[in-house]
Amino acid sequence: MRIFILFILFFVSSFLLFCKEKVPSRAQATINSPDGQLTVNFYLNPQAPQYEIRYKDKVVLNPSSLGFRFKDAPALQANMKIERTEVLEEDTSWTPVWGTDHRVRDHYRQMIIHLKERNNPHRLLDLVFRAYNDGVAFRYILPAQREMHKVEIISEETRFRFAHNDTAWWIPADYDSYEHLYSKTALSDIKGVNTPFTIQTKEGYVITVHEAALTDYPAMTLKRLKDRQTDFKSELVPWPDSIKVKHSIPLQTPWRVLIIVSRAKQLLASHLIENLNKPNKIKDTSWIRPMKYVGIWWGMHIGKYTWHSGTKHGATTRRAKQYIDFAATHHIQGVLIEGWNRGWDSWLSGNNVQSYTTPYPDFNLKEVARYARQKGISLIGHQESGGNVPQYERQLTAALDLYQSLGIHAVKTGYAGKMHPSGQHHHGQWMVRHYRRVVQEAAKRQIMIDAHEPIKPTGIRRTWPNMMTREGVRGMEYNAWSDGNPPEHTTILPFTRMVAGPLDYTPGIFNIKFDPSGKHRVYTTLAKQLALYVVLFSPLQMAADLIENYRHQPAFRFIEEVPTNWDETLPLQAKIGDYVSVARRKGNDWFIGTITDEHPRQMQIALGFLTPNRTYEADIYEDSPQTDYDTNPTAIRIRHRRVSSNDTLRVKMTRSGGQAVHLKWSGK
Ligand code: NOJ
Ligand code: CA
Repeated sequence: MRIFILFILFFVSSFLLFCKEKVPSRAQATINSPDGQLTVNFYLNPQAPQYEIRYKDKVVLNPSSLGFRFKDAPALQANMKIERTEVLEEDTSWTPVWGTDHRVRDHYRQMIIHLKERNNPHRLLDLVFRAYNDGVAFRYILPAQREMHKVEIISEETRFRFAHNDTAWWIPADYDSYEHLYSKTALSDIKGVNTPFTIQTKEGYVITVHEAALTDYPAMTLKRLKDRQTDFKSELVPWPDSIKVKHSIPLQTPWRVLIIVSRAKQLLASHLIENLNKPNKIKDTSWIRPMKYVGIWWGMHIGKYTWHSGTKHGATTRRAKQYIDFAATHHIQGVLIEGWNRGWDSWLSGNNVQSYTTPYPDFNLKEVARYARQKGISLIGHQESGGNVPQYERQLTAALDLYQSLGIHAVKTGYAGKMHPSGQHHHGQWMVRHYRRVVQEAAKRQIMIDAHEPIKPTGIRRTWPNMMTREGVRGMEYNAWSDGNPPEHTTILPFTRMVAGPLDYTPGIFNIKFDPSGKHRVYTTLAKQLALYVVLFSPLQMAADLIENYRHQPAFRFIEEVPTNWDETLPLQAKIGDYVSVARRKGNDWFIGTITDEHPRQMQIALGFLTPNRTYEADIYEDSPQTDYDTNPTAIRIRHRRVSSNDTLRVKMTRSGGQAVHLKWSGK
């Protein structure tokens, strides 16, 4: 019966699709997005299968080749024939366990092209293409077949031949880190690039290139082809023996994704990456709780405390209890404690070997866990591998068991440092498997994960919603000990890194000029720090400063009140690298975050999105006339206004300033 329905569906949808669509003369197959704006054309040339993408009938990607090269087998690319084509339209909705919107629509048209080599050994290759209203995705499938049982891929031959030499915001193709500042250049100035990266076209539309459902495969970077300005090739992160992928057959690659939207701000509303992942596998999700957290953390980064033992050791029982007390009285649900376990002294010698189950003598883990439970606070455990993954893997299950036995439901992991064994990379297939294993082992024990130095997000949070947030970004810590993050950095992230998924940026530094020597500071105003809680999405969101810097600060109220999980997201105004303003709703309350780069800026925000005929009490946290980025960045004005959907909100930001607004429905 099911097969019969599928059969009917196939014919009906093929009929509908092909009736509506203009199939270009040479294309062997075509699909359009449901709204008809995006088109994927498939061509089968004797040398290679190719795909082409058009947006509003303008070429986005010129015909670009597909295929593989293997270690011990001929390439799979030339001389193929189409065995069969399937088309399908799906339109469903799903409810995320947490996210930026309460409900997500998943609407696409799909074509699967079943290819077979014309000559011996007649290997099979399936290509799956999907067209959504906000982008295009495709993946390779090597189906089960007699002539192939496993593969060693030395090159995925996917090409991305962009139609124009447009402007991109990108970070380099680093196989071990995403902690870079973004460059803004023409495509022709890129050598290699990590995804996601974003292109603003002269035609006006915007493209983010990324991948989805990276589960057992290396990460994809893109490399520009020599002597070609805008032609790129997929370059996978290698194993130590330079093989890229080791896998049995059948093999499904991650999706290669181009999110294509008419305006940059729409990138904040896209769910394409999540939609390309499998539904939630965790049945009981009651223990998965988005939350804010404080932590014994910034103190180490600014040198006030140490992770390792000694007179400045940060993670003492006493200090942990102070943080728990603070959280309990300030509507903060979690407390992270780093440096609690033995082994951090080995970090100093550059060879990190830790025990994830033995606390330092001045930290009574059981007592701290008991105290936290009593106060209703969730502890966030910490496991820093330092890149020494084998020693971490050996202890992983015991370490997670310990946390489970103490009622701890969240762990921050870390991979800061060079990868062991040497030759492995943070973003290679071996590590992708490791990161996935950690998430699954944690899920078995009802533990949420916040991964630092992670693999980039590719939508796995839909399948494993205990994979809450991750770093994979040049976050706040860089302000503590490096040149820092310039004012424009956080006006680029929402359109690049954040398109992939939530980011543990760790905002909320109130003591902006914390360093008496003047060498380091945070490169924003205080109001901008608050606005980041709305602009940067993370289901675990840190209030990163020392708790003493939050005492007697009226502005802290915004952090107490801002949610970390949303019912609705409404991007308002944006220009990549210049400014961004976004509204998010939780229940009846709306929050607006607006930030600017190194330029002062004024904006008007029409509040027409509020429910009509309601009065909202607006608490507005903004740069004051006295706020000065250099001399007075912590000056903040907090004003109160009654507004309705007919009103307009005025935003006046100083250099690297911002505005954070909480709109509460008064019930009238
Ligand atoms: C780097 C992480 O990003 C940071 O958050 C952490 O404190 C240190 N590693 C130590 O684990
Ligand atoms: Ca880091």
